[in-house]
Amino acid sequence: MSKVSIVGAYNSKFGSLVQRNRETGEITDLKSIYDLLVEAGRGALANAGVDAKEIDGVWVGSCAPGLFANQEHLAAFATEIDPEHLRFKPMTRCEDACASGTVALYDALYAVESGRAKAALVVGVEKMNLLDTKGVTHALATCSYWPEEGANAVSFPCLFAEYAKGYGAHYKLEGEPLARMLATVAALGYVNGLDNPLAHFGKGGPSDKLGLVTAEAILNLPAEKNPVIAEPLRLHDCSLVTDGAAALVIMRTEDAVKAGKKAVEIAGIGHVNERLPMSVRPNMHELMAGKEAVRRAFAEARIAIADVDMAEVHDCFTINQLLSTEALGLSQDGRAGYDYLEGRFTRDDAHCAVNLSGGLKAKGHPVGATGTSMHALLYKQLVGEAIGATLTRKQPQIGVAFNVGGSAVTNCVTVLRRVK
Ligand code: COA
Repeated sequence: MSKVSIVGAYNSKFGSLVQRNRETGEITDLKSIYDLLVEAGRGALANAGVDAKEIDGVWVGSCAPGLFANQEHLAAFATEIDPEHLRFKPMTRCEDACASGTVALYDALYAVESGRAKAALVVGVEKMNLLDTKGVTHALATCSYWPEEGANAVSFPCLFAEYAKGYGAHYKLEGEPLARMLATVAALGYVNGLDNPLAHFGKGGPSDKLGLVTAEAILNLPAEKNPVIAEPLRLHDCSLVTDGAAALVIMRTEDAVKAGKKAVEIAGIGHVNERLPMSVRPNMHELMAGKEAVRRAFAEARIAIADVDMAEVHDCFTINQLLSTEALGLSQDGRAGYDYLEGRFTRDDAHCAVNLSGGLKAKGHPVGATGTSMHALLYKQLVGEAIGATLTRKQPQIGVAFNVGGSAVTNCVTVLRRVK
């Protein structure tokens, strides 16, 4: 099987890219889903130095554009990235909830590995803020097992609250100890987000204005500034509702090297599905399928966790950052919270930094774009063009993306390695 590399990437500015009239509730779109898709696609091609005529297919990851922006059949619009050269090429949308972007990358990867496509463009995009919170909560809930979960008003915060309760009970951390661990994770995201110019909550943003750079600052917020969303998860445990897009260009590593591209190889992947209904899972204190995805990705890449310099993990809720950190093997089971409390996984970490981008907590979480964004920002780090915070001790060589869809149902782990 030929190995495949990312040779260019682009990440749009993330944020709530709308204007809301507070009196009338009217929403004006400042950057549409179409603008975002085209911007990211063109940006990645330019970054790769690849002409659209060399692209044999476009894969678009988007979670629920029909519900969020009234647009199904979204991939077809990717022709507008370059109508002259992309018209008549295959365009495919991939949907696996919040892992849609990574799944789009994997489908493009299969096409390039097989030789059917020589080069492919992958775009992840989501426009969430045309809806109010109720609408967003409903759209996201359609990614749950509807008959048991969404239909019974079990939202995504509620689903991940089950993991938080399960983890707290199993490791006897309920109450203040777990709250402090989760706030530490959130604060790390906010600190890293301050250095990411593309972040939704970056410099001058809401978390910066409130000075939320320590767990203490978050824990000391008055209840109305950090309300319970789904016990035990509070506002600052939840990822942001974000508009944004990110894109990647991939080709075979041998072609990339011949063409003198800055290449980052997709050294290994693990794509593992958990059962959709939460009610049938044997336990709620670990990511069982996530651990298997890690095992497969690391086996394919022939690496161990000690080889990994940086990871972007799916902190859709702070509890999932603890679970992902353990699934990766960065912490022993039940120990991730203690490790974060001890100050591990910052940019100064002696072993591995986590979510240098600010993660979903600060960079933001435009659900269908999150997977491509993780890969795009890791790519930039690995080729020495980091956007925002970087590792202080060395130029990173190996990065891992751990992107989750639904209530930890779709688990995608990618090992990325700089090609010398
Ligand atoms: N984290 C921190 N602050 C947040 C926030 C979040 N997730 N969401 C909103 N805020 C802030 C806003 O900046 C605003 O601050 P201000 O009063 O200083 O201006 C304030 O909270 C109110 O914003 P609003 O948009 O009215 O919040 P909300 O109560 O409608 O929404 C959540 C809050 C948590 C419900 C929403 O962010 C959410 O649904 N997040 C999870 C998204 C999700 O499930 N994604 C998929 C994961 S699998």
